[in-house]
Amino acid sequence: MRVLILGADGYLGWPTCLYFSQRGHEVIGIDNYFHRNAAAELDCESLVPTPDLVQRAKIWEELTGKKIKVHIGDVTDYDFLLSIFKEYNPDTVVHYAEQPSAPYSMISRNEAAFTLQNNLISTLNIAYAVKEGNPDCHIIKLGTMGEYGTPNIDIEEGWLEIEHKGRKDKFLFPRQAGSLYHTTKVQDTDLLWFYTRMWGLRVTDLMQGPVYGLSTDEADLDKRLMPYFHYDEIFGTVLNRFIVQAVAGYPLTVFGKGNQTRGFLNIKDTMQCVYLSATQPAEHGQLRVFNQLTEAFSVNQLAEKIKKVGDRLGYNVKIDQIENPRVEKEDHYYNVQYTGLLELGLKPHFLTDEILESFFAITDQYKSRINKDAFFKGISWK
Ligand SMILES: NC(=O)c1ccc[n+]([C@@H]2O[C@H](COP(=O)([O-])OP(=O)(O)OC[C@H]3O[C@@H](n4cnc5c(N)ncnc54)[C@H](O)[C@@H]3O)[C@@H](O)[C@H]2O)c1
Repeated sequence: MRVLILGADGYLGWPTCLYFSQRGHEVIGIDNYFHRNAAAELDCESLVPTPDLVQRAKIWEELTGKKIKVHIGDVTDYDFLLSIFKEYNPDTVVHYAEQPSAPYSMISRNEAAFTLQNNLISTLNIAYAVKEGNPDCHIIKLGTMGEYGTPNIDIEEGWLEIEHKGRKDKFLFPRQAGSLYHTTKVQDTDLLWFYTRMWGLRVTDLMQGPVYGLSTDEADLDKRLMPYFHYDEIFGTVLNRFIVQAVAGYPLTVFGKGNQTRGFLNIKDTMQCVYLSATQPAEHGQLRVFNQLTEAFSVNQLAEKIKKVGDRLGYNVKIDQIENPRVEKEDHYYNVQYTGLLELGLKPHFLTDEILESFFAITDQYKSRINKDAFFKGISWK
């Protein structure tokens, strides 16, 4: 398979390049270094020092003899993207190239406008590049479980059958996002569903929960191959942040009551989910939606798990409930259906104490790089 990975320098993009390359596929990685540059400007850089995409591709080739082709460019630049499609004619495109942070999108109008423009135009360009460049190409787009919000009914896997006044039809599951970023993800889905209906595209939309971890079989070969690791309020996801806070001796920052519940997954499972979707693609004219999570926890449950393991390892972990800067329900119903990826063959890595211990061990090696000012920047939703 020839796989085009957009957002290849990112937390998920880079290990995905390695995962496909290791399995013998031809990989082309694209990034414009938005994330690297924004993290440097906002003083919230990765815990793990990461060579840039070009350098990491060289390291991978030196170690394994496998080549990842890299281009630095912007997916919102249509001429650039189309030239890549024409040059490589990919079988699969994995779309990670978005502004991925809810807090970033809530900083001010400028960041909101950038997020809208970047995320929607990149998705639009991919739809057009596939139509013009190779209509058989399967699009795998990363959505988020945050698109659904926290409705007071079960969250189905993408679609909902509705009976109304004696008639039935099937619709995308209702979405009510909790940030501007999440709103752009809803709009991405709508864009792709529109073009799937118009042009018969083949699309898999992975409604992913927050990912944790930084260890994959390929990245573990050499520490220079590790993915970014963000623990800050802007680009860090909650579990990654809690682990680094615990190692730094900083109280775990639980927002509000901490009863907010979300579905999580290990980065190793993200790799599996994307790979399984690529090797068993959607049909022409199909928008296939999978809910990509392996287990659900409330923020308090996560904090307690980390405290238990951290205390056992001698970190004396404290938990602080701070005023919630977000507008979100702190008590809510949460029951998600997620069988599709398991049926494709996903073998989940659950959040065991052993996994947490290994996570503490890696984080501890980079303790001297922790920037405590990055934990809380006070970005408010109000
Ligand atoms: N990490 C998670 O927990 C999580 C959860 C749910 C969904 N997602 C989704 O997965 C995708 C990847 O997330 P991530 O955590 O790896 O984010 P990331 O920021 O680490 O990776 C995205 C990469 O895309 C690049 N990029 C952004 N805009 C670009 C553009 N216009 N042209 C070229 N490159 C561009 C960035 O520089 C970055 O390297 C995102 O779409 C995000 O919404 C992530």
